Amino acid sequence: MNVPFYRHSLTPDNSKYVAEVLKTPFLTSGPIGKEVEAQLCGYFNVSHAKLVNSWTNGAVATLLAMDIGPGDEVIVPAMTFIATANVVELVGAKPVFIDCDPDTLLITPELIKDAITEKTKAIIPVHMYGQMCDIKAIKEIIPSGQKIAIIEDCAHSFEAKFNGKRPGKYSDAAIFSFYATKNVTCGEGGAIITNDPNLYDRITQSILHGMSAGAADRFKAGQYKHWGMDHLGTKANLPDLLACLLPDQISSVDLRLKIREEIAQKYESSLRSSKIKFPKVLSGIVHSRHLFPIHVGHSTRDKALQTLGESNIGATVNYRSIHTLNFYSSKYNLAKNDFPVSQYWGDGTLCIPLFPGIKTEEQDYVIEVLVNKIGKMIGDNQ
Ligand SMILES: Cc1ncc(COP(=O)(O)O)c(C=O)c1O
Repeated sequence: MNVPFYRHSLTPDNSKYVAEVLKTPFLTSGPIGKEVEAQLCGYFNVSHAKLVNSWTNGAVATLLAMDIGPGDEVIVPAMTFIATANVVELVGAKPVFIDCDPDTLLITPELIKDAITEKTKAIIPVHMYGQMCDIKAIKEIIPSGQKIAIIEDCAHSFEAKFNGKRPGKYSDAAIFSFYATKNVTCGEGGAIITNDPNLYDRITQSILHGMSAGAADRFKAGQYKHWGMDHLGTKANLPDLLACLLPDQISSVDLRLKIREEIAQKYESSLRSSKIKFPKVLSGIVHSRHLFPIHVGHSTRDKALQTLGESNIGATVNYRSIHTLNFYSSKYNLAKNDFPVSQYWGDGTLCIPLFPGIKTEEQDYVIEVLVNKIGKMIGDNQ
């Protein structure tokens, strides 16, 4: 049997949406994009949404819109995908890494508190694997009199809720990824949501070079309007050719989440009695179940990846701790044990297949290999 790491749920039937866009004059950010943005506002109960061509470009545009740059610090987890820290570097600010909770792998208010300095301008909490950080509690520890923005990294957490609240409720902005393997996807893409109309206006410009009017607005009523540029921007808008694939997926995402939850719970109940560990799921939350990470230990991880490969099971490493990667360790003189939980997890983890279309016999086969081969490779002290 061959079980891929991921199989998307889009079908050739979706090409009808692309054909509809091709009938209109606007291939890029036009009416379909606006419809999707309204749909996102409804789903997340926020006043503003902006589609972007990736989480990464959306985050760069958001940091630019917040005037964050050289001399500023942004707190980010060490345990996340590199993009979370890279966007801070890309605007010339300094990413300040913090460790994570050993059970959930989420950053906590206590860990953030110790890293705040007078240069801190933002915090980017990551809702790792689909489980949300407590954003309300994080907001409460921001020193009064200091403006520190919270930008939620929601690349893994479209459907998630914490205390019944979706992303975007307590933060300045929340950013999503619609990359090929995400729970909602159009191949490449993303979205920024916010309840701050001023920030939204700045983001509207920073995703389009800093121009004061987008293409659709420049040609309103057949009359060309000049645009200005007051702030630096980048190019991060999402074409309608891709945005048109999103409405169906957004309206059905919670149905697919039920399937993701069943798959994840089956992994948990099947692996609980083995030596394989996985993050704790908090009670009373909605988990997006984007990825299913397991910890097999640093001396077993590469052998486990090899065994999974030989068994034709797709697996990836999400993630090695960012502070151990050459660019960051040498630039900021970081030692491996500076962030022990992130290092321990990053050295010993891998992710196994989790997608709504996985067949029962495929998941059973993955579990069989994990329990009978991988679990037995793990020593007692890992
Ligand atoms: C936690 C996290 N943040 C950011 C990103 C970047 O998303 P994108 O590929 O849309 O730029 C990813 C992508 O996988 C991610 O996992």
